[in-house]
Amino acid sequence: MKKKVILYRDIPAEERQRLEAQYDVTFFNNINEDNKGAFIAALADAEGLIGTSTKMSSELLSLAPKLKAASTISVGTDLYDLNYLTERGIPLMHTPGVLNETTADTLFTLIMCAARRAVELSNMVREGRWTSNIGEALYGTDVHGKTLGIIGMGRIGYAIAKRGHFGFDMKIQYSNRNRKPDAEQDLNATYMEMEELLQTSDFVCVMTPLTPETERLIGAKEFAMMKKSAIFINGSRGKVIDEAALVDALSNGTIRAAGLDVFEVEPLSGDSPLCKLDNAVLFPHIGSATAETRLAMITCAVDNLINALNGDISQNCANQHLLDR
Ligand code: DGY
Repeated sequence: MKKKVILYRDIPAEERQRLEAQYDVTFFNNINEDNKGAFIAALADAEGLIGTSTKMSSELLSLAPKLKAASTISVGTDLYDLNYLTERGIPLMHTPGVLNETTADTLFTLIMCAARRAVELSNMVREGRWTSNIGEALYGTDVHGKTLGIIGMGRIGYAIAKRGHFGFDMKIQYSNRNRKPDAEQDLNATYMEMEELLQTSDFVCVMTPLTPETERLIGAKEFAMMKKSAIFINGSRGKVIDEAALVDALSNGTIRAAGLDVFEVEPLSGDSPLCKLDNAVLFPHIGSATAETRLAMITCAVDNLINALNGDISQNCANQHLLDR
């Protein structure tokens, strides 16, 4: 009998067929109030789960007693309760690697847009407010030659630093749980404590994953440590920062500008005070959202589920403790 798998996100037909060739697949096009009951019923027999964008709490996962593997179509694993899965010996597979360069492109777009006021000035043109050459009050700030501080020098952090070093002649500094010799050798990156990084960077880019240790890592105190001219970039998760403190820092000139791809609550409400700030560039969580990369992530997630259900978690397993066993 085929194993039962729940697919809770629409994926291209070819990838879905790869799953259907091996498994009895129950499909949900995202989980919502209308289909949640059916999803919960399907959990009772599910051995595999694959999808993204739905919070999978331990409460929900406890309704899947036969679960053998879960595969998220993302590099971030924060929608799952990883500790709970580890206790049950269930691997959570994810998609690192395939999205590094695209996500770094997005983060660099935020850096450029925030520094050169690209969205604000583009809106001025569209709205017919470009009536004379712009003056000093609307000048941007240079990116090339500046200091780029990266908090969380993982694979994506490295790809951003690479762009800064080779493309923009930037000085790279980073803080991280451990030293990164490759970044130090290849990109001349300097390791430092977060406090020093905050005080000395022109651009502060947060790329650390959301964990209990990094929740609200950056708040009022940290914004106050930054240069008044600093540009703050968040490409990790909204909950890594105190969003209200960021709004204050942007409104009262504690820092110059911000570029954000992630928010405490997504989708961000149009009523958010962030939407009223010209010095905030806001993207709708599009770090990896290109056609090529999203397809590569889906293909990777399907491979990951198939491998994990075959007992092979050597590639792309997020629960380090299961690998250590
Ligand atoms: C990821 O892969 O974690 C991206 O942030 C999309 O959720």
